[in-house]
Amino acid sequence: MDKIRIVGGNRLDGIIPISGAKNAALPLIIASLLTDERLTLENVPRLRDVSLLNRILSNHGVDYSLNGKRPGEDHLTGQTIHLTAREIVDTCAPYDLVSQMRASFWVIGPLLARCGEARVSLPGGCAIGPRPVDLFIAGLEAMGAAIDIEAGYVVARAPGGLRGGRYTFPKVSVGATHVLMMAATLAKGETVIENAAREPEVADLARCLVAMGAKIEGAGTATIHVQGVPRLHGATHRVLPDRIETGTYAMAVAMTGGDVTLTHTSGDLLRNALDALAATGTSVADVAEGLRIVRDPASPIHPVDVVTEPYPGFPTDLQAQFMALMTRAAGVSRITETIFENRLMHVAELARLGARIDVDGRTARVTGVPRLVGAPVMATDLRASVSLVIAGLVAEGETTVSRVYHLDRGFERLEEKLSRCGAVIERISGEGMR
Ligand code: EPZ
Repeated sequence: MDKIRIVGGNRLDGIIPISGAKNAALPLIIASLLTDERLTLENVPRLRDVSLLNRILSNHGVDYSLNGKRPGEDHLTGQTIHLTAREIVDTCAPYDLVSQMRASFWVIGPLLARCGEARVSLPGGCAIGPRPVDLFIAGLEAMGAAIDIEAGYVVARAPGGLRGGRYTFPKVSVGATHVLMMAATLAKGETVIENAAREPEVADLARCLVAMGAKIEGAGTATIHVQGVPRLHGATHRVLPDRIETGTYAMAVAMTGGDVTLTHTSGDLLRNALDALAATGTSVADVAEGLRIVRDPASPIHPVDVVTEPYPGFPTDLQAQFMALMTRAAGVSRITETIFENRLMHVAELARLGARIDVDGRTARVTGVPRLVGAPVMATDLRASVSLVIAGLVAEGETTVSRVYHLDRGFERLEEKLSRCGAVIERISGEGMR
């Protein structure tokens, strides 16, 4: 298995291009199941999760192809993919595929809406908590689906098609909002989704569905209205920028000090996180190309408390990265995780680098230290892994981060983007090493 080796101590200066959003690309790819015509997606990040999902969808009958790189195109430019589900050949999503990627459970919405049936494996637990699917089931039932759990599978049937309904989420869920919105596009009549997730990725999916002929209003707010239509058609859609990648690099620059412009992105996608970053004493400026992040390495990092919340609150997907930054703050900060039950596992690994963190329930109390020292570390999820990279960038000496496949799920050419700005970071091929 590959590792990432970092020698800490350099500031970051330069330009980092931000990729298309993983968490928008995944539901957009799944939306291709809703039509027999071609869906073209531009600015798709080159990530392991994306290629895995394409393979999973080919099981259901989706043909996909990639545009080759055009002459003169920077290899950091996103890819264009074409997806066509002319015919759904299988409405079953088996355990061995769904267990590899939780988001593939979301095929349940489009399959049920288009074919009147779906049999999708329960995804099971994952490293950041149990992550149940009760909200998906209740929402689809509100649209007339009959749902049973049989031998580890969610079996959903709507032989006469789904019908519009009203569903109020008792708890905000990004995935269940995506699924209900997709399912409602082909239902008979109007569906109203209340207490919907307001994440920019939900609004991006809605924009694509509207381009495919869907009638949706309110996506990006807590109430979404969908007027069902008999069929959707092909479209071309550009994936919005990755706000989590944006925030991650912004926090890396705050950590090391330096002056970096993040291009192809917008601060409007992550205002809350950027406000927290500005409160640490980092300069955050909206510029024509995206965002400019500047911090004098000699100035102190102020401690700032954050609590993760659904959008537009502080994102859980930036919690680990912010904690890494706080390990070097001049004082004590409190970081509270409210979205997932088990998402503080980076604490023990950050401690291996010399961080002082005490966990009490869902809150981590971080006492900033003047120095971190490099060490071998590993993490069990994507965002936790990248928090260790951020810490490694300032740790004295060498840090090696193993289980790099987590990073490859969600960060496109991470080591290249950082090394172009002056970091000493490289991938070591794992052949022969453990
Ligand atoms: C999405 O996951 C993201 N994944 C996650 O990003 C992100 O952390 C999360 O939203 C929250 O922002 C993708 O977009 C592919 P949820 P999702 O349903 O949709 C509970 C990353 O690192 N819940 O909003 O699975 C659930 O257990 C990933 O890129 C139920 O109780 O998250 C959690 O506590 C990790 N019942 C809360 O809701 C349900 O039926 C929010 O989860 C569904 C969810």
